[in-house]
Amino acid sequence: MEADDPVEPPAAFRDRANVATDVRERFATAWPEAWDAAGDLLDWFEPYDAVLDWDGEGPPFRWFAGGRLNASHECLDRHLAERKNRLALRWEGRLGETRAYTYLDLHREVNAFAAALRELGVEADDVVTLYMPVVPELVVAMLACARLGAPHNVVFAGFSADALTTRMERADSAFLVTCDGYYRRGDAMNQKRRADRARMALDYDLRATVVVERLGGARLGPDQHDYDALVERHAGATVDPVPRDAGDTLFQMYTSGTTGTPKSVAHTTGGYLAHVAWTSRAVLDVKPEDTYWCTADIGWITGHSYVVYGPLALGTTTVLYEGTPDHPERDRVWEIVERNAVDTFYTAPTAIRSFVKWGEQHPEAHDLSSLRLLGTVGEPIDPSAWRWYHEHIGGGECPVVDTWWQTETGAILVSTLPGVDAMKPGSAGPPLPGIDAAVLRPDGSECDPGETGLLAIRSPWPGMPRELAHATDWGRAAAGEEWCYLAGDEAVADEDGYITVLGRADDVINVSGRRVGTAEVESAVVAVEGVAEAAVIGVDHPTRGTAVHAYVSPEVDRAADDSLRESVLAAVEAAIGPLASPEQVVFTPELPKTRSGKIMRRLLEAVANGEEYGDTSALRNPEVVGELEVRREGVSDE
Ligand code: WTA
Repeated sequence: MEADDPVEPPAAFRDRANVATDVRERFATAWPEAWDAAGDLLDWFEPYDAVLDWDGEGPPFRWFAGGRLNASHECLDRHLAERKNRLALRWEGRLGETRAYTYLDLHREVNAFAAALRELGVEADDVVTLYMPVVPELVVAMLACARLGAPHNVVFAGFSADALTTRMERADSAFLVTCDGYYRRGDAMNQKRRADRARMALDYDLRATVVVERLGGARLGPDQHDYDALVERHAGATVDPVPRDAGDTLFQMYTSGTTGTPKSVAHTTGGYLAHVAWTSRAVLDVKPEDTYWCTADIGWITGHSYVVYGPLALGTTTVLYEGTPDHPERDRVWEIVERNAVDTFYTAPTAIRSFVKWGEQHPEAHDLSSLRLLGTVGEPIDPSAWRWYHEHIGGGECPVVDTWWQTETGAILVSTLPGVDAMKPGSAGPPLPGIDAAVLRPDGSECDPGETGLLAIRSPWPGMPRELAHATDWGRAAAGEEWCYLAGDEAVADEDGYITVLGRADDVINVSGRRVGTAEVESAVVAVEGVAEAAVIGVDHPTRGTAVHAYVSPEVDRAADDSLRESVLAAVEAAIGPLASPEQVVFTPELPKTRSGKIMRRLLEAVANGEEYGDTSALRNPEVVGELEVRREGVSDE
C-alpha cells in the first residue's frame, strides 16, 4: 500500500456510527442554521432566537443568541432521569488506585461543593483558579463553578508558582482550589508549597483557598479549607444551576502565543458546549453506553473539551487517568483499556510514537477487542505511526480520526467523520461540515492543491472564543480584506480538500503536544544574571515532536560554564515549569543577526535541524554560523 492510499471506514463501524450519511450537504445549503444540530444536543432553559446573530460581515458573532443554559445542568442534572446510576467517571490514579462516580454521585458532590464555594463567597462571574492534577475533584470543581456561573481558570499542575501567579493575576482571580500534592512516577510532589508561593507573590489577597488532600498531612492556613471537610459539611445541599446567556464565559484558560506573556482564551457557555457535544458525537462517535478514554491532562484544552465537557454532556462514561503511559510498566495504557473495556481511545502522536518505540508486544499482551474508534490530536502524525496505531491498537478494524483544532478553536474543526469519510494516513482530513477552513497565501488568496500556505478559518464557528467573537483583544487576524482567523499553522490541502497540517508557522512550538511560546522561554532566560542575549527555538525530536533548544550568549565577563547552564535551566523551570525546560543550552559568543540587529531564529532552526540554510550574506555576522554548527555537534555528542 502506498503511504497515502485512502483507508475506507469498515462496514461494521459505519453501520453503528452516530453520523453515517454525509451531513455536509445540509451544512452547505443551510449555513449557519444547520448548526441547530449542535444546539439540539443541549437542554436549554431558554431557547435561542437565532443559531447565529451577526451582520454578515465582521464581529460580533453571537451563537445561539437569546438562549440560556447551564453547563453543569447539561452535564449532570438532565441525565439523572435516565442514567442516574450509570458511571460518569472512572478514575485511574497514579499509584494504581481506582475510583468511580455515577451521575448521581457526581451530581451530589458537585452540589455540595458548589454550596461550599458559594459560602466562601464565590458568585456568578467570579473567576476561580483550579490548580490540580487529574483527580475527580478537579472535575467536581469545574462543574461546581459552572453551576454557579463562575468561570474556572484551570492551570496545569506542572506549571511553576510564578506561572500560576501570572495566570491568577491576569484573570483577576481571588479564589483558588488546589491540592496538597500528587505523585509523579511514584514520587510525591508538593503542590501546596507551590500554590502557597504563588499566593504570596500575588499583588492582592486571595479570598479563599480550598485544598484537596491527595498526600495527606498538609497544614492549612487561616483562609485555607479542606475539600473533604467542606463537602461533608454541605452534603445533601442543592444549588440550582444559575442560568447563563449562551455567550457568557464558561471558562477561561491561558495558552502560549507569540508574545512573552500567556494568551487568554475565554470560551462561551452555549457555543462552546454545543460545538464540543456535536463533535464528541459526530467525530468521536461517543454513545451514552460507551466507556470513552481521552488521555489528555485536564489542564489543557483537550482535557476540558474531550475529557470533561463533551463526554459528560452526552452522558457517557469518561475515564480519567492521572499517570504516565509507562508507569509502572509500558503496557499500563493497554491494561486500562482491557480492564475497563474502553470503546474509544483518543491520544496524542507523541504517545503513539512512544508506543511504537516500546514495541507491539505490550498491546499484544492485552485484549483490546472492545475498541471501536481511535483518535489523535495535538501534532501532525506521520503515516507510519498512523498505520501502526491503526493496525496494532485498532486491529485494522477501528477508524482513526486525526483531529485538528486548538485552544482557540475550542473544539475539533478539521477531521474525517469516522462513519462517512475515507481516511488518509498523515492528513487530518476535510474541514468538518459547517467549517470554512482553507489554506491561504499571505495575501489571503486560496492556495492551489499541493501548495503550502497558512491555515485559516474564514467563517465563524460555534466554539469560537469570546476574544474572536467580539474581536477585542487578538481578534481580527485578517488575511486580505475578509474577516478570518489565522490559526498560526502551516498546511497543505490536496485535490480532495484533505488538509495536512505541517506545524506551527509562528514562534509557538509543540513539545510532546504541549504548546510552549519561545518568547516566554526567552524572557526567562535573558533575565538570568550573566546572560546577554538568548534565542529559543524548536528542534525536531523523535518522540516529542519538537524539543526546546536555547542559544545563549553570555555577558563578556561571564564564563559559559555549567553553573550558568544550570541557572538557565532553573530560571525556565521557575518561570514556566519543567515542560518548557531546554533540552540543550548552547553557548555562543554571538547570535546570528540581520544587519538591522534582529536575531535570525529561522537560521538557528535550520542549523539545529541540520537543514540547508542557504545564503548567509544578509547577516551582520555570517562567521557565527559555522561556529554554531561546530558547537551544536559538540553538544549532541555529549
Ligand atoms: C497542533 C490542542 C497537526 C497545531 C488541541 C495547533 C495539530 C496546535 C493537530 C494547537 C493535528 C493540533 N495535526 N497538528 N491533528 N492538532 N495540532 O492549543 O499546531 O494545545 O495549532 O490545542 O497543535 O495546540 P493546543
